[in-house]
Amino acid sequence: MQYVEDAGGGNVDDSINKVTYNTSIPDDLEEFHAILCTVDMVIDETYVPNPIAYTVSTFLQNTNIEDQSCFAFLANQSLWRFDKRIQNSTVLVQDWYDGAISQPQLVLADLVEALFPSRNYTTTYIRNIAKGEGVMNINPDMCLRESLTAMDPVVIPC
Ligand SMILES: *[C@@H]1O[C@H](CO)[C@@H](O)[C@H](O)[C@H]1NC(C)=O
Ligand SMILES: *[C@@H]1O[C@H](CO)[C@@H](O)[C@H](O)[C@H]1NC(C)=O
Ligand SMILES: *[C@@H]1O[C@H](CO)[C@@H](O)[C@H](O)[C@H]1NC(C)=O
Ligand SMILES: *[C@@H]1O[C@H](CO)[C@@H](O)[C@H](O)[C@H]1NC(C)=O
Repeated sequence: MQYVEDAGGGNVDDSINKVTYNTSIPDDLEEFHAILCTVDMVIDETYVPNPIAYTVSTFLQNTNIEDQSCFAFLANQSLWRFDKRIQNSTVLVQDWYDGAISQPQLVLADLVEALFPSRNYTTTYIRNIAKGEGVMNINPDMCLRESLTAMDPVVIPC
């Protein structure tokens, strides 16, 4: 939530955010949809064992969305997940819990791009499933330095 604010966005107001909604309860579902109708962008943090299979249809199914007409984040294709970089197709080994912690400037740059698209910057850790963006598999061969050598942080041009 701090990243979202630092990137120039705003989070759902605490006063209307009940945090937990049970989509099997019609009133809950309605309230949840009402909130989703007000936002320009969604970050879906749903834990799944197989991120590769998680697409926009999974999201629509999980949230019981049929009529998409009121959802600006869908019309504008801004629905993100932070499981872009995974190892061995598993959510347990994803770079969000490792690289993203050591390089917070890349996470911030990702969120800036998500909130204010330049369409000129490739996000590192987050993927836009509304645009059909998939995961990428990472492996030790992709590490270009000796593991005992300190990492040079990536510097993002302003
Ligand atoms: C959600 O609501 C359904 C229907 O009332 C109930 O069976 C289920 O246990 C609830 N799930 C959770 C996680 O509370
Ligand atoms: C989509 O984004 C554009 C530019 O950010 C904005 O002007 C427009 O209102 C948005 N459309 C919807 C449906 O949210
Ligand atoms: C990835 O999975 C393969 C086969 O399951 C295994 O042999 C390999 O050690 C795994 N690699 C890593 C880095 O976990
Ligand atoms: C895209 O990036 C290049 C190189 O960083 C820059 O010169 C160009 O102005 C950018 N284009 C847009 C539309 O931001």
